[in-house]
Amino acid sequence: MTSPTPQVVPTTAYQSEIYLAGLSGTTPALPTDLTRLEALAEQKLDSGPFWYVAGGAGTGATMRANRAAMDTWRIVPRMLREATQRRLATTVLGTELPAPVLLAPVGVQSIVHPDGELAVARAAAELGVPIVLSTASSYTIEEVAEASGAGPRWYQLYWPTEDEVTISLLGRARAAGYTTLVVTLDTWTLGYRPHDLDQSYLPFIRGVGTAIPFSDPAFRAKLAAAPEDDLMAAVGRWLPMFTGTALRWDRLPLLREHWDGPIVLKGVQHPEDARRAIEAGMDGIVVSNHGGRQVDGAVAALDTLPGIVAAVDGRAAVLFDSGVRTGADVFKALALGADAVLLARPYVYGLALAGQDGVRHVLRSLLTELDVTLGLAGYADVAELTPDALVYGRP
Ligand code: FNR
Repeated sequence: MTSPTPQVVPTTAYQSEIYLAGLSGTTPALPTDLTRLEALAEQKLDSGPFWYVAGGAGTGATMRANRAAMDTWRIVPRMLREATQRRLATTVLGTELPAPVLLAPVGVQSIVHPDGELAVARAAAELGVPIVLSTASSYTIEEVAEASGAGPRWYQLYWPTEDEVTISLLGRARAAGYTTLVVTLDTWTLGYRPHDLDQSYLPFIRGVGTAIPFSDPAFRAKLAAAPEDDLMAAVGRWLPMFTGTALRWDRLPLLREHWDGPIVLKGVQHPEDARRAIEAGMDGIVVSNHGGRQVDGAVAALDTLPGIVAAVDGRAAVLFDSGVRTGADVFKALALGADAVLLARPYVYGLALAGQDGVRHVLRSLLTELDVTLGLAGYADVAELTPDALVYGRP
């Protein structure tokens, strides 16, 4: 007599799948504790690419602060509430999300895996999770759109100093089905990153992560020779476009004029900047310190969130990133008022370790943990989360 397949496996689908696969001796190819991926990626990657992803500004104090804040805010589970069926789905700026999670813009993904952004776009589309494509992508806007297919996609702009190039990039992104524009404000020049400096490692200088400008007609128009024929000349035209001189509050109307979808400003860390974004007619902000890659010794992103949410007061979408590693982290950011979070380094490690499968694993693990945490904390819907779900405790 064979024993019946258990019909009741606790909690959600991915957990069930993993436990059931164990009956035939299979265990997950990657750890389900996503904080373990970084160490595995370090074993696999060359040190230049690894530290480009894992490293931060200066001593790494901002990165550590991001994680410490996540540990300091604590969930207070509630009992005997109807939370056996959970709803994670939400809508942010007109984009329907299966869960309040998007994949953050991360440039030069081909340094960790040859399929880079294409693999990420495919994995995200399978799950209906939006990608935010970086201007520093290793593949073009159009190539990633094709890989993303019917999947939701947003476009992240590093704002060039030449308006014709900016306008051309925006036009291409709109034509390729990217619906929301994310404008990153905090990286108008590169942070002081000792790991990269000590290895003299900067992918862009080698023409990696430049697929978008190098395929852009407005960018190419002013080159004496095509990037294919004179790489250094093209690099020499592209890098100086990020000197921050295009970035002023009074320059935002240019973007509005050339983008007819929602616009989100990424890198907001002060309530006053959030207010200014709203006054400038922006549709949303991403509370972020760029994963501690720009200013060492900066305030933890999560600690800035409550004040910014209060300043925004429901007038714009508030997204959050910097330090999100687990489903519980997502829960905390949502409870503190974020409408959705951006996941970054963990999916890059998933990509590095197992390509598209690795990204899928990371996403499924994160969403499963979010679902389980939500239920066990006594909430049936992410929309029910408020700061009351948390206490500010000892780390
Ligand atoms: C980034 N980030 C980033 N942000 C952006 O707006 N455009 C970009 O091209 C990049 N590129 C990039 C590369 C790498 C390797 C990393 C790790 C990060 C920042 C990213 O979107 C996000 O804000 C942070 O990564 C969040 O911090 P954690 O959660 O990854 O620590």
